[in-house]
Amino acid sequence: MKVVATIAAVRAARPELGRLGLVPTMGFLHAGHLALAAQARAECEAVAVSIFVNPSQFGPNEDLARYPRDMEHDLALLEAGGVDLVFVPAVNEMYPAGFTTWVDVEQLSAPLEGAHRPGHFRGVATVVCKLLNIMMPERVYFGAKDAQQTVVVRRMVSDLALPSEVVVVPTVRETDGLALSSRNIYLDPAQRQAAGILYRALTAGRQAWLAGECNAQALRQLMVAMITAEPLAQIDYVSLAEPETLVELDAVADRALASLAVRFGTTRLIDNLIWERRAAAW
Ligand code: PAJ
Repeated sequence: MKVVATIAAVRAARPELGRLGLVPTMGFLHAGHLALAAQARAECEAVAVSIFVNPSQFGPNEDLARYPRDMEHDLALLEAGGVDLVFVPAVNEMYPAGFTTWVDVEQLSAPLEGAHRPGHFRGVATVVCKLLNIMMPERVYFGAKDAQQTVVVRRMVSDLALPSEVVVVPTVRETDGLALSSRNIYLDPAQRQAAGILYRALTAGRQAWLAGECNAQALRQLMVAMITAEPLAQIDYVSLAEPETLVELDAVADRALASLAVRFGTTRLIDNLIWERRAAAW
């Protein structure tokens, strides 16, 4: 496994790699990230992972400074996962002095996470666009866990005719349904236990819909009531939207993206579930 920190070194290594699958990450890797790398391993000749805590996708009052890092452990996991190339750029490699070009996926960045984290998706789209230009992968892998991110990235890749195929991998969860996240380590034991409510609410909403309730506001209210009953949880939003446009629904017909953001103390967690008539496996 080759570990490189410069764009020039990636460009030098790229020709030997053949059909490449890229997994962009911010490190502090867990089984969710590794599921992306495993799928890339199964589908591509070579696998690259980037580890870069991207400052431009964090707001001024967010957790950039305390975002967890463990490079040594990350590299051991990737080595064991059969990864060929790891790109670990410094901030000034990705954002050199004078950097001033941004990718803004306008409408799709506005609601949900975008409404609570202004500028977040401009940072995500810009860094992903730059990583695609640096690594030139045939495929790039994202987790369903960050649903709006997948919608924004797909749109950017399509709008800018970037020659990579976007692949979305199901969310990896703990046994109580909590989606794996680097931020879960911030939860104290009581918050950790309480956080199981997110998946229970998403699945209870889906059950109510499958049982015949189609009114989106009633379904949102059902999920809100469940989460509000958990004293350690504070809701940022609970959404039922059209999965491709992210427009809020009045009624749920065949498909919906149920998504939410909830704070436990200072830790903000997001999760989502695609509701379909034939229930998805995640
Ligand atoms: P990060 O939060 O490190 O996540 C990297 C990738 O892992 C994302 O595609 C995310 O959706 C996926 N992932 C996280 N938890 C997961 C889980 N429980 N199951 C499946 N996949 C999971 O997302 C980012 O980094 C950044 O925004 C990035 C795309 C790297 C741009 O900076």
